[in-house]
Parts: sequence; structure tokens; C-alpha cells
Amino acid sequence: MQDTKIAIIGAGRVGSTFAYTLATSGLAREIVLIDADSARAEGEAMDIAHAVPFHRPVVVRPGAIDDAQGALVTVLTAGAAQRPGEARTALFQRNVEMLRDVLQGVMDVNPEGLFLMTTNPVDALTYVALRLTGLPPGRVFGSGTVLDSARLRAELAGHCAVDARNVHAYVLGEHGDSEFVAWSTASLGNVPIPDYCSLAGMVFSRTEMDAIEQRVRRAAYEIIQRKGATNFAIATSLTRIVEAIVRDDASVLTVSTLLHGEYGISDVCLSLPAIVGRHGVTRTLPVSLAPEELSAMQRSAEAIRGVIADVAD
Ligand code: 2OP
Repeated sequence: MQDTKIAIIGAGRVGSTFAYTLATSGLAREIVLIDADSARAEGEAMDIAHAVPFHRPVVVRPGAIDDAQGALVTVLTAGAAQRPGEARTALFQRNVEMLRDVLQGVMDVNPEGLFLMTTNPVDALTYVALRLTGLPPGRVFGSGTVLDSARLRAELAGHCAVDARNVHAYVLGEHGDSEFVAWSTASLGNVPIPDYCSLAGMVFSRTEMDAIEQRVRRAAYEIIQRKGATNFAIATSLTRIVEAIVRDDASVLTVSTLLHGEYGISDVCLSLPAIVGRHGVTRTLPVSLAPEELSAMQRSAEAIRGVIADVAD
């Protein structure tokens, strides 16, 4: 952790909240906040730096793209954000051009670092970033459904009245409208969730499962409708991913990563449980999917491919 530097591109709601969350986590020694609006990056960095005396020492400063030099991870949060009612996929055209310049700028000074993508549509842009940088797949990955899996765990913890940290359940596929819950593997501690609910005398039928899945899938729309953006939970998700990297934890996280034939799917980035550590994503884990979940995974892959194909045309 001694000299850990993290570069954050984009000082908007997500980038600045992530910078704050990371600064208070004690995981980094230096955080550089980079934005096309340099005054915005300066203001956010100053404000966050003034919170540091209450935490472990960390330098928080504004910078230019060149300041990504030496960063263990460059986290991309910049780009157009969803407007109320807008799907993440609608942002692809707007964000892909920005990505081209930014990635080239970072690669010029820091070809050894990792890229963590979070700009939406995150799966399609992670794929584009991989192709543009030419880096090995494990070094360019996206926040994917880490956030959606947290939303699912929060829902299940609420339903079952238990600690969300003991809920093991994953949202897989696209971080977007085609995402799905891998219900067949969801457990509470060591017990499948339906078994726990029947033990505890709680109802957990298809109706509850569908309602929970729908709330998770719609969460960003509901939040954006009310407050204009999502920032706290995505910032915390990014900090958790960066923690796994900085500490070389080999944590299981549902990041968006390039598939190599898993479930018959290749050449697309989407979320599966994967091992994340200092070298990025080192492997994906097999999940025993039910037939309908496997179909949902394939539909998700097609949906992401469709977004990328639109721009290639
Ligand atoms: C979220 O899910 C908008 O992708 C962002 O909160």
C-alpha cells in the first residue's frame, strides 16, 4: 500500500464520490482526480483533501491525463450520464469518442497499469477499451454487476431480515436491462435462500423473486428519477474492487470481463463471478446455471453485442 496511486478520470458525481470514498478507506497514498473541467477537479480534490485529517494520510490532488503515470489502477468514470428514463445503452455513441482520447493519453504514460471501467454502457465500453488498448483481458475490466449484486444482497437481506454480508447472491450478464439473477446459487450463509425462508416461516415464491429481481434491475432508473444520478453505491462498489486489487485479495467479484467460451460465449465483456487481485482479473468462476438462466446469459451477451455492432456500422 506504501506508494499506491489511483487515477480517477472524471470528477462528476460518480468520480468525486468515489474519490471521497477511496480517500476515507485508507487504501491509497495518492489519488489524482482528472477532468476536462479542471476547475471542477480542483474544487472536488480540495474539498476531499480537507476531510483527510480525519483519516489515514493520502494525497488527493487534481491532475491532467499525464498524471495517470504510475497509477496502479486508472478508473474511468467520465462521460455522459443517463437522463431520467434513458437506458444505459443510449450513451454508447456519446461516450466511445471520449474514451478513445482518454485511453490513448493514459496508455502513453502508463502502459503497465490496470483499467477499471465504470462509464456506461460499461460492458460495451470495457470491450472497446480492451480493443483500443490491446492490453491482456485481465488488465481491462469493468465494474459490471458488482453494484447490482450489492443491490440484490440488500433486497434479500431486507426480505430475510439478516446481515447482507452473509447473503451470497449474484446478478450476472449485462450491467443493464438484460441482467439476471443467478437464483440457483443464491444462499444465506450455507443455506439456499428458499430453504432459509421456509425454516424462518417466510414466503419466498416466484412472485417475491420476480419482484426483487425487477427492483434490482430498475434501481438506477428509480434513483435517477428522484435525484438525477446514482453515486454512493457505485462509488462504494468501485472502492471494494480497488481494495481487492490494492490488497491482492483474490476476491470474488462480479466484474465485467472478456469471455473466452464460458457458456458458449466469446468475444464480449459481461459479468461473471471472477477472481480479482493485484494483477486484475485472473479467472472467472463456473456457475451452475439453470436452463432459463443460461438463456438469460446468452440474451445478455447478444444485447451487449448489439450495442457494439451499432457503432461499428
Ligand atoms: C447504476 O446502476 C447508473 O449504472 C448506474 O447506478
